[in-house]
Amino acid sequence: MDPRSIAAALPYAYEGLPDKAAGGRPLYRGKVRDVVEGPGRLLLVASDRISAYDRILSTIPFKGEVLTRVSAWWFARTSDIVPNHMIPPSELGGRDPLSETGRACLVRKADMVPVEVVVRGFLTGSAWRDYQAGRRVSGIDLPSGLARDSEFPEPLLTPSTKEASGHDRPVSGEELVRSGLVDADLWDQIARAARALYLRGRRIAREHGLILVDTKYEFGTLDGRLILADEIHTPDSSRYWRLPGGDSAPDGARRELDKESFRRWLADRGFTGDGPAPEIPDGIRIETAARYVEAYEAITGEVFEPAGLSTQALDELLAEWTLAV
Ligand SMILES: Nc1ncnc2c1ncn2[C@@H]1O[C@H](COP(=O)(O)OP(=O)(O)O)[C@@H](O)[C@H]1O
Ligand SMILES: [Mg+2]
Repeated sequence: MDPRSIAAALPYAYEGLPDKAAGGRPLYRGKVRDVVEGPGRLLLVASDRISAYDRILSTIPFKGEVLTRVSAWWFARTSDIVPNHMIPPSELGGRDPLSETGRACLVRKADMVPVEVVVRGFLTGSAWRDYQAGRRVSGIDLPSGLARDSEFPEPLLTPSTKEASGHDRPVSGEELVRSGLVDADLWDQIARAARALYLRGRRIAREHGLILVDTKYEFGTLDGRLILADEIHTPDSSRYWRLPGGDSAPDGARRELDKESFRRWLADRGFTGDGPAPEIPDGIRIETAARYVEAYEAITGEVFEPAGLSTQALDELLAEWTLAV
């Protein structure tokens, strides 16, 4: 999408669901998504808010739509591996919240496992920083002499607990089970599902000229059965590299289709989560929006055409499907 169209959309970036829209139903505001609770189900509304280092910093036009649609695209391509939380239109009288609103979906409310299940294919990001500093990576001892961004022979699971305070704590799978946070059998299922999802994601991304470098899943249970919840393989929950020329090995010429350049812009100005955050100039918001749209188009192979938010469709969904019991 060209920068001028994005610039024109800046004033319409979506801050989130107004309080009154929830009509007194329980409303939880995540960093990015607003969640309205109904009987056994949730309406997830993705705003255009962007967070980095656990702080909400600005809005990026089209971001919420990109995230919602990328997730739906991947859920449809992985449901044979593990069932997910999406409620299909066939169970909603044919209504399709996503196509009606561009940024809302109705999901089954899961009993969430309080763990961010991170799967990594390459030694980069925080794993590289830990490794370089001589620390173990989520309790895993890696061989010495590995190069930055090198590929692991097998995907590495580096879970962290989802802390109420906002900052996540890395733990090993054994520790999760030992501490009683996750039952051993459930963890086994989660670990297997996460690896299979990542490998599937990686293979499909590869066909589109992208590397799914690493990603994060959130699982839950429903009637005792494992389901994949939250989001999947989005540019917020994953690292994606685009390789010019379609090389299979990452190199310095790669283009990052995720939040990494935004994080770097902040870090270059001395912000890594503490103290006052810098004001985000429109130029950075436009550049970031273009990157999200580019990610959508690269991942799905489709041209991004924003649906634009219909508040009427959203109000109808809220009224029809999230009435309190
Ligand atoms: N199917 C589900 N059932 C229950 N909770 C869910 C489900 N899917 C996602 N969630 C939760 O909804 C919230 C989504 O909002 P988000 O902006 O990602 O929040 P956060 O700031 O916690 O990352 C998260 O807390 C996530 O764990
Ligand atoms: Mg989240």
